This record gives sequence, C-alpha cells and structure tokens, in this order.
Amino acid sequence: MDGAHAARVRCSGRKRIAGASRLPFGGFSGYAEYIGKALTFQGGSYEAAGEGSSGAHAAGGRDRRRCDHDHRLHGARMDAREHGQEDGARPDRSGRHRGAHPDLRRAVQAAARCGSQGRRAQGGELLDPARPDREGRLGNPRRRQEAELGSRAQLRRGADQFLNERSCRSRQPPGHHPGGSLISFPAQNRYAAYAIPKQKKRGMTNILNIIRLAKPLHPWIVLACILITVLAVLQQATPVTLKFVVDELSAQITAGAGDYDRLVFFFLLILGINIAMVVVNTAGQRVGDHIASRLGRFLTELYYRKIFTLEQRHFDGEISGKVINQLNRGIGSIRDFIGQATNWIIPGILQAAFGIAVLSYFDWTIGLLALSVFPVYIAITRYSTKKWGERQVKKNTHEDAARGRIAEVIANIKLVRTYNAQRQEWKRVSDTYRTINTIYDRQSTQYHILNFIREFGLEIIFVAVLFIIFRKTYLGDLSLGEMVLVIQLLAQLRWPLYGMSFILEQVQQADADSKAFFEVLNLPEREDFQTSAARPPVAEPEISFDRVSFAYEDGSPVLTDVTITFSNRETVALVGHSGAGKTTLINLILKLYEPTRGRLLLSGKSYAEADHSWVRSHIALVFQDNELFSSTIRENVGYGVPGATDEQIIRALEQANAYEFVSKLKDGLDAQIGERGVKLSGGQKQRIQIARAILHDKPILILDEATSSLDSRSEHLVQDALQKLFKNRLVIIIAHRFSTIQNVDRVVVIDNGTIADAGSPQELARRKGLYAELLHYQIEGNKKLLSQYELR
Ligand SMILES: Nc1ncnc2c1ncn2[C@@H]1O[C@H](COP(=O)(O)OP(=O)(O)O)[C@@H](O)[C@H]1O
Ligand SMILES: [Mg+2]
Repeated sequence: MDGAHAARVRCSGRKRIAGASRLPFGGFSGYAEYIGKALTFQGGSYEAAGEGSSGAHAAGGRDRRRCDHDHRLHGARMDAREHGQEDGARPDRSGRHRGAHPDLRRAVQAAARCGSQGRRAQGGELLDPARPDREGRLGNPRRRQEAELGSRAQLRRGADQFLNERSCRSRQPPGHHPGGSLISFPAQNRYAAYAIPKQKKRGMTNILNIIRLAKPLHPWIVLACILITVLAVLQQATPVTLKFVVDELSAQITAGAGDYDRLVFFFLLILGINIAMVVVNTAGQRVGDHIASRLGRFLTELYYRKIFTLEQRHFDGEISGKVINQLNRGIGSIRDFIGQATNWIIPGILQAAFGIAVLSYFDWTIGLLALSVFPVYIAITRYSTKKWGERQVKKNTHEDAARGRIAEVIANIKLVRTYNAQRQEWKRVSDTYRTINTIYDRQSTQYHILNFIREFGLEIIFVAVLFIIFRKTYLGDLSLGEMVLVIQLLAQLRWPLYGMSFILEQVQQADADSKAFFEVLNLPEREDFQTSAARPPVAEPEISFDRVSFAYEDGSPVLTDVTITFSNRETVALVGHSGAGKTTLINLILKLYEPTRGRLLLSGKSYAEADHSWVRSHIALVFQDNELFSSTIRENVGYGVPGATDEQIIRALEQANAYEFVSKLKDGLDAQIGERGVKLSGGQKQRIQIARAILHDKPILILDEATSSLDSRSEHLVQDALQKLFKNRLVIIIAHRFSTIQNVDRVVVIDNGTIADAGSPQELARRKGLYAELLHYQIEGNKKLLSQYELR
C-alpha cells in the first residue's frame, strides 16, 4: 500500500471522526500527493512516497500529516468541548486549530512535530480509518457533548401517530423569515410546518429535504459546489502538466533534446495551478464555514420551533435532556453528511470520469479493469454499511438510555445520596456501556472483514494494472511521462472509490444518527408557534365544560362527563382526593390537552376553534410543581412580561409577601435561584410564582395548591394579598387546607374524575358528602392537636 494512499484512507477515517465541523473543502489536500507521489515514484520508490526529505516528499507527506494532526486534534477537541469551548476548539478548514484551548494547541504542535513520522502509525489502531467512528460515541466529541436523553418509545408512538394523521398536515415548507430567522412561522396556517413529505427508508431523503428547505443556503451551496468543481478540475491539470515535465526531462537525459524554456513554462504553469488551488481552496473553506454555521442555526431553529408545537403528551413521556441530545446528534450527523458528501461526490465523480477516460485513451484494457472495480467495491460497501447502520441504531438506543439516566441521576443527586444508590446507579450505566461495547465489537468485526475483502481485491487489481503499465513502458508503448501520468491517474482512481464507499457509509451513519431528530421533526404539530395571541383576550371570560371526558392514555379515563361553568368574577375552589383529576381539569382549561369527548368553551367560543395562545392569554397560573427557571428573581417574576419594570416586579413581590425575603438576598432581584429554584425554600418558590401570577394580572387566576408549602403565617399573609386580587376576576383555587378556601363563592367537589357535588362552603359543610367528610377529618385533626396542647 502506498503511503499517500494510506494517508487518504486515514483522512477518510479522520473525516468521519472530526467531521462535525467539516463542510465543503475539508478534504482537499490530495493534490499535494500527486506531485509528491509522482516525483517519488520517479525516484524509484512508490512505496516510500512522502517519507523522504525533499520538498516533493514533504508535499506527499502533507496529507498524512494533516490526518495525524487531525486525529490528535480530535482528541483535543473532545477535551476542549468538555471544557465548554466548542467554538474555539472547532478546527477551521485552513488552520484547523483556531481554538484557544491549550490542549488543542499542544495537539497541533505535536501533530506538526510528528508529521514526518505519520507513516509509523499506518495500519495501526490509532489511524485505522474505520475505527474512530465505529468505536463510536465514546470517542466522538459530538457525542460526548450529548449529555442527556431518554427512551424512544414516546417518539415512536408520535411517529406512528404522524403516519396515521399525516393528512392533517400542510406541506408548506418554511420560507425566509423577515426577522432574520431562516425559517418562517406562518401564523395563519395552523399546521404549516416543516413537513417531510414521506418517511422513506433511506436516510438520504430526510437529509435532502433539509437541504431543500434551507433555502437561504442554496446560493452558498451552489457556490461551494462551483468552487469544489474548479478545484477538482485544477487537480486534474497537475498530473497532465507533470507528464510534460517528465517527458521533457527524459528527453534531455536520454538524448539531450530537452527545451529548458518549455520546462520553465511548465514549472510556472504548475506554480500557477497550485496558487489557484490554494486560493480556491481558501475561498471554499470560508464558504464551507458559512454553510456549517448557518446550517447549525437552521437545524436548531427548526427543531426548537418544532418542540414548541408538539402536543403536551409528547413531553409527558420524555426524559429531560433528551431533546438536547437529539438536537446535537441530529445536527452533527446532518452537517457531517452534507460536508462529506460535497467534499467527495463532485471531485469523486470528476476524478473517476477523467481518470478512466484518460486511462482508456492510453490503453482500453487498463481503463476497463479500473472501471470494473467500481461496482464490486460499491456493492460490498453497501452491504457492509447497511448492517452496520442497523447496529448503530441499536447502539444509539442503549446509549440514549444510559445518558438519560446520568442526567436524571444528576438532577436527583440528593435522592441518590440519601438512599446510597450511587453504586447501583453507576453499575446500571456501566452495564449499558458493556452492551454497547458488545454491539460495537460486532460492528467492527463485520466491517473489518468486509473491508479486508474490499481492499484486498482492490490491491490485486491495482498491482495487476501496474504490471501492465510497467510492461508497456518497458516495451516502449508508453513514454516515461505517460507512465507517470497513467500511474497518477490510477492512484487518483482510488480516491473516488474510497469517496463513494465513504459516502455510502456516511449515508448509513447519518441515517442512524439523525433518526430520532427526524422522528421529532415528523411529529404532528398540535399548537401554533406564536408568542402573542392574534386576538385580544375577552375582558370578562367564562369557562364552560360541556360533557367533557378525558384520558391521558387510552383506557384509563381521568375525567368523565364533566359539565360545569366557571363564571366571570367567581371564586371557585376545587376540592377532592389526591389524584381525583383537579389538575387535569386545569390542564384542559389551559388547552394543554384536548378532551377525549365533549367540549370546552371560553365565553361561548369553542376551544376546538380557539388558538392555544389566545386561550392562555386569559390565564395566570400558579403551578402545583414549582415552575421556575435557573435565573434571577427578576427574570422569574417578570417571565412573559418583557417590559416589566423593577417597580412592578417589587410591587408584585410585596403583594405575594415575598419581597421581605428577596430584599434580604445579597443580590436582591438579581439573585440567582438555581435550577428549578433549588436555592429557595418551598414556600419561597411558591411566593415567587404567586408574584409572577400577580404581575401578569389576567382575568382568570388559577392557583393549583399554590399555598401548600407555605407556613401558616405566610399563608395567612399571602391569603390577604390574594383576597384583594380575587376581586374582579375568575379565580379557581385548588387547596387542601380548608382555611384557604373558606371565603370562596363556590366549592366544586371532584371525585374520581366526576363532579360529585357543588355549592357554597357552608352548604356543603352541612350536607353529607365528600366535602363534609374531608372537613370533618381536618377539624378532628385540629381538635386533637388543640387537646394535646391542652389549649381547649
Ligand atoms: N401526564 C399524565 N399522564 C398520565 N396520567 C396522568 C398524567 N397526569 C396525571 N395523570 C393521572 O391522572 C389522574 C388525575 O391526576 P391529577 O389531575 O393530577 O390529580 P389531582 O386531583 O391530584 O390534581 C391521576 O390518576 C394521575 O395518575
Ligand atoms: Mg393536582
């Protein structure tokens, strides 16, 4: 195997590893090889290409050095990414090490140092072309980044639903958004969305759709293709020019009949070609960078937007963090694929066509032999990568589970520590990775066996062709220059071969790795994507349930035949056992879910026809679970009210009886409250939420166990504030403490998903029923308490 070839192969491996950031022009270093290889061959050692110390040799070795260097970079990038320096660490196409990360710089230096020793590693594990990628995720920087995720069951369910409900989706692709976004979000068409026309088996389809939809990128992609084509053509010019140089030289050496001026002309021509190649290459790399970054943005916007339009159910089955993981993996694989494909397809086809045409011109048997290699080679590749892809999907599933667990464990680290479950948790992840290793071993073994067959066959054919060439030259059928040209073309033919098999591998890889990403993009859109309601809210809204039934999951009804009206300016308490369906009722009012049967009305307008955002524009809510962001008090209170002033925020905090503790915090309104508000106590979190609801000042206020974590004194104070707020709006309170609901206009008793009773607190207390029963328990409990303290 010749050195330069090996370098190329390694490069293909490298591209697969580090490809996350590699777009058009990542793979253009090959031209140096032609010169290097040809001259080296002239010097008598085809094998030693790139190993000598002459300039030509050095040129031949350049590619190899880049590959080694890239390989090291890959390792360093992994570290760099872990240090949160993705962008800096991302190699660019020219320097490939614009990163600021010290490890990265060290790696670059080391790579430069070891450039001339690159060959040592040839065939070794480190530079095995197939290895880094197949080794998979452990070694892949992109994947290392993927911190969290979870099961795919939900996604699959969604995808199935999608297949059944496809008819309701519009197929309008997003256009260009005037606000500068790459995608537009049409307000009118409720199902207008990114929609992939058909879920075909081939991964290419999805990716090609993405390219089709990324309209603003089209001119850039075209430009990149033009530049790549120019570069590929320039590359072809080099061996041809060299043929003339060699002919000139051999004429001079053998017969003294060389023309020095011609030699100088060819030299200048080669110089010109090389300069042009560097210029085109640089421009191409810049364009490639542009495409890479815009594509990243486009895909992120697309995915993020999609997330907002998915039905609430989708999130019920999700493990947090999975979304990010899918996004990372999806974007990485798509970007890789597009980069690799552009880098390989155009030059590959050009080189193959050019090479075979010229070879056939000199000798049709050689041309035919070379041509015959392609179908065989590609067939083997197809077979091997298909299997590989299937295993990759399986591996991804296991890995998703493991990473999802890690993310959950970190979120619940207190729980894990309290119950001493560290070992058990660690083992669970470790076991999953053992399974992943097993799958990978199979992937790798199968790949290498087929790869061996592929390469072995290729080498045999190439050696046979070489023999024919030598023989023809020996017999005088080919000039020395022609021989050099033919050998170079032959060597060049390997490139499209590897290129094409590489592309097939990439298709599989992209298919497997972007599967979850596209599954999400293919889910039906249930909500509009818009932040403000198109219509103004009703000033005095009223909410009616008309024989509403609901189930989260098939077969287990949560609400059954609920008919009730919540009138304007009314304060209603929902009472019932835990799990009775109170929060579910609120979820329906928020239009987070659609009823299974019956309908909801907002001031006479059916929910089915109302925009989600319009319905929600009426409602301020304090959630049962603490819904807070890991940011400042100011941001949390003012959430959803972009122009809120400090005065407004402070007033809301005061009304919620929260300003006292906020003002004691070191940073006041700017105090960071930690993830989901971990730095606050339960009661403090609730008061922040209450302040948020107060600030929003909506005609409907819903408090879902909003004061359950408050101590009696705080509750009393908050209650006073809330009483003022209750005037002039519809208020729905869910509370277990009867002291909280003693002043409401109406109590609605929910039992087992139905409305069991309704009336004023006094009426219900007198009537036999659930309310009286619950009240009795609480009074008895209090009595007991009082007697224990001998206060009665
Ligand atoms: N997202 C969900 N998916 C499936 N089942 C749910 C979901 N949320 C609640 N449930 C179930 O619905 C029933 C009612 O829950 P909920 O309305 O939260 O009760 P509560 O009256 O205590 O607020 C419970 O049995 C609960 O297990
Ligand atoms: Mg509840």
